[in-house]
Amino acid sequence: MERRDFVANLGITLALACTAGLAACGGGGGGYNNSNPTPPAGGGTAKLSINLNNELTAVGDAKIGGGVILIRTGSGNTAADFAALSSTCTHQGCTVSTYNKTTGLIECNAPCGHGSRYATSGAVNTGPAASPLTPYTVTISGNILTVS
Ligand code: FES
Repeated sequence: MERRDFVANLGITLALACTAGLAACGGGGGGYNNSNPTPPAGGGTAKLSINLNNELTAVGDAKIGGGVILIRTGSGNTAADFAALSSTCTHQGCTVSTYNKTTGLIECNAPCGHGSRYATSGAVNTGPAASPLTPYTVTISGNILTVS
């Protein structure tokens, strides 16, 4: 094999390896998890980030992800306009199902849950859960809200 052919083949091989997703081609950083691209302002680990321009735009909108349930409770764009709580039900560890805009309660329903209800403060409204949901910190920088 001529040297020129060898170099050409090497280039093709490396390109295929990178396409296959080898970490060595990723520029460092250790993977493709880009679900929380914005670092939290407080230096902790972001559990959930949203763009206030297009997510949770109406009072009562909620999102569950990253171990968090985030609820818009006010019309402004300050931390006080949101509730961020652990989405892990304190009864038996199910992820809570939803936020009910009509009742204003977080629900832990079947098939996993057993009907517990929580206020947006995290306090138990209805059992069988006996302990509140853990609150998290909301930080807003520009249009990015981060829960940590
Ligand atoms: S795990 Fe939520 S009510 Fe049982």
